[in-house]
Amino acid sequence: MQLSEIEKTLTPILSHFQSAYKELTDSSEVTILEEIAHHLLARQGKHLRPTLMLLSACCCGFPLTAKKDNPIFKIAAAIEALHNSTLLHDDVVDRSEMRRGSATINKLYNNKVAVLAGDYFLAKVMMAVNEVDNKKVTEIINNTVIEMSEGELLQQQYNSQFDIDESVYFDIIRKKTAVFIALSCQAGAIFSTDDDRRIAAAKEFGEALGMAFQIRDDILDYMPSSRSGKTQGNDLVEKRCTLPLILALRNSGANDRNDILQILNNETIDPTNMGKALAFVIENNGLLLASRVLSKYIDSALTSLEVFPDNKYRQMLQELAISLKEI
Ligand code: IPE
Ligand code: IPE
Ligand code: MG
Ligand code: MG
Repeated sequence: MQLSEIEKTLTPILSHFQSAYKELTDSSEVTILEEIAHHLLARQGKHLRPTLMLLSACCCGFPLTAKKDNPIFKIAAAIEALHNSTLLHDDVVDRSEMRRGSATINKLYNNKVAVLAGDYFLAKVMMAVNEVDNKKVTEIINNTVIEMSEGELLQQQYNSQFDIDESVYFDIIRKKTAVFIALSCQAGAIFSTDDDRRIAAAKEFGEALGMAFQIRDDILDYMPSSRSGKTQGNDLVEKRCTLPLILALRNSGANDRNDILQILNNETIDPTNMGKALAFVIENNGLLLASRVLSKYIDSALTSLEVFPDNKYRQMLQELAISLKEI
């Protein structure tokens, strides 16, 4: 199932989310912030997290006829604003110049502006969460922000290390990505049911889906920018060892491995060496092996859904999860 089909079904409540997001982010009189908020609105992402949140809520009985002032929409907006805030910071850290097929804010302006705008959106998130004042949701959002920061810093800690254990990689992506997607699903369930088993299942589903989502993103990093809207090979340029490389290194012969490690350990990677590194990962089945791990996480996500009532929203979550198996 494509996200666009899900969006069609959820139109009434997704439009409440959209208005809440606009209201939350598009209200500064500072020209530069106004420009950035407009840029982010014009270059929207997939809205994966709010969509998952609303879909999980519907799965547990939340009605499509809900009114605009239901607090779920402010939290959905806060979740998307938090996502955009982390991307503003992440693109500075990763020195990324392209996102969503367009120049990043750090490229359009500079690092200072991107960091400060990220902080501004984070403050807006805090304000929205305070206004809604749901103790459980506040707690999980706070914990998510802490874990994401830890994840990004843990990644820095292991930067330039190409012999990292798989378990370190999984720890990093759980913290920086999966916990947030888990939160999105869990928060949706919290707004629509008191059944702790279902709330826990929503969290479990989101966490496994989030692991798969980051592995998929790390595979896409090896592919042309026309597929990802981001610069090809940026993880290698930034000396970040992700699952395709970990598995390719493990699968390769000693000579090839040493050659490639020499290239990766150079201070910078020129286009010829980048070509060699990309070819090494592909030839040693790094992408294929990583996609198998991705599939396993999707299967585990699907198992978590069994606790939910069998309705069309659960089916949409299933189909959305399955669609991530395809790269
Ligand atoms: C990008 O997330 C960051 C990762 C966790 C890989 P998305 O792919 O959900 O970003 P947009 O919002 O759709 O651009
Ligand atoms: C996810 O990792 C970023 C965050 C959790 C903020 P990446 O650095 O791989 O994400 P992209 O590729 O820049 O979107
Ligand atoms: Mg990045
Ligand atoms: Mg990436």
